[in-house]
Amino acid sequence: MLIDKFFKAGRKFLGCKYPIMCGAMTWVSDPKLVSTIGNAGGFGLLAGGNAPVDIVEEHIIETKELTDKPFGVNLITLAPVYQDQLELVCKLDCPLVVFAGGIPKKSEIEKAKRYGARVICFAPTAPLAHNLIERGADAVILEGSEAGGHIGPVALSVLIQQILFNVDTVPIFIAGGIATGRMMAHLLMMGAAGIQMGTRFIMAEECVAHPKFKEAFRRARAKDAMPTPQFDSRLPVIPVRALKNEGSIEFAKLQLELLSKMDNNLIDRHQAQYKVEEFWVGALRQAVIEGDITSGSLMAGQSVGLVDKIQPLNEIISEVVNDAESELQRLKGFSTGLCEFEGCRLQLFNIRSSRAVRGLLDFKLHTLAFGKRFEAIAFYGGIMDKNVFTVFLDYKAPTPFVVEPLDCSLRHSSELLKYFFKDSFDFPYSPYKKAGS
Ligand SMILES: Cc1cc2nc3c(=O)[nH]c(=O)nc-3n(C[C@H](O)[C@H](O)[C@H](O)COP(=O)(O)O)c2cc1C
Repeated sequence: MLIDKFFKAGRKFLGCKYPIMCGAMTWVSDPKLVSTIGNAGGFGLLAGGNAPVDIVEEHIIETKELTDKPFGVNLITLAPVYQDQLELVCKLDCPLVVFAGGIPKKSEIEKAKRYGARVICFAPTAPLAHNLIERGADAVILEGSEAGGHIGPVALSVLIQQILFNVDTVPIFIAGGIATGRMMAHLLMMGAAGIQMGTRFIMAEECVAHPKFKEAFRRARAKDAMPTPQFDSRLPVIPVRALKNEGSIEFAKLQLELLSKMDNNLIDRHQAQYKVEEFWVGALRQAVIEGDITSGSLMAGQSVGLVDKIQPLNEIISEVVNDAESELQRLKGFSTGLCEFEGCRLQLFNIRSSRAVRGLLDFKLHTLAFGKRFEAIAFYGGIMDKNVFTVFLDYKAPTPFVVEPLDCSLRHSSELLKYFFKDSFDFPYSPYKKAGS
């Protein structure tokens, strides 16, 4: 499969078949979900969240019993139990730790690494991505503000240009608003090592989320997943993206209440921020576990607009992988690339694609500017018409080498290419900087 080439870096880093991570989700990412993801070839993460250490320990042990595949643990650096959880994952030799929810200290990253874990850090802004790499992160998850749950301020489209296009010192995984294999294919071509999804995995049959929670996701549109506002800079709150409901209004009321308490010196800023995070953990439980979709928190990414059915997890993974592969094959079909065939330098044109016409113009310029660059030209994917021949005669182009669908079973252009060029044919369409690296 073409996609294997693009999976290489992520596969090596995560040690799994498909570098598709299921983002840690408090109350959702239990041993069953994490082990099922691992057994399906993806990579699961347990959510440390605010969970007491003995619960996290139980979850790690249970997950190890359910799968022999690797998995990771996500730690929220702002959680009150964070230090104890870090101690625990070191003690239990967890192979991968994801630091989220704040900036881990260099010494904490070093500690996890000393105990043999690979460290991934969440990077919601470009300066943070650089900073975390300097502090020793082995990889980063670039998460756009389209994501579900606690979010950063920058859209994925900008983070991609700032970091993915410029940083190649560590593997970069991408999250936020991703729900399709087609999108994954493009991110891989841009140089991503893999992706992380949350919202799409909520819709897995094996996911513990309440049926009402899943139904709310199924009905929601992308625009329904809104970030919460911050009312006053004296009480900084990390925005949370969730489906709008009465829970969102409750959060607004809580902020006003806390600000008033701060005004009256009943609590300080730190205590108020803690109350905010406590609210989210409780509200999420209310919706995910109890199915209270009116007042509970329906944390969801804008990707909620792309999910419309509950599926077995295996099916989600294979659909994402197959759709990504189809996208790569489709792009390969459009290619007007260069290849070698039995020592002969070939210029390829797919005449079924409209891009072939543009390709011919480019080719004209090439031949005019550099003389005879290619020994032959291969056409595939359709029948060459008079106009195409005329261009070549006009510009004294090298001999066209016509590839036609001789065998009816080889109608698809990528199959034709394989048939004619055997394995010497390489993926020629590399629109992005680090394609295939
Ligand atoms: C219900 C829910 C709970 C989440 N909880 C956490 C969490 O506890 N820790 C964390 O780092 N990220 C959390 N996230 C973020 C996900 O791990 C993931 O990065 C995000 O969902 C990706 O965006 P997407 O939902 O558009 O796929 C949560 C997301 C959702 C939807």
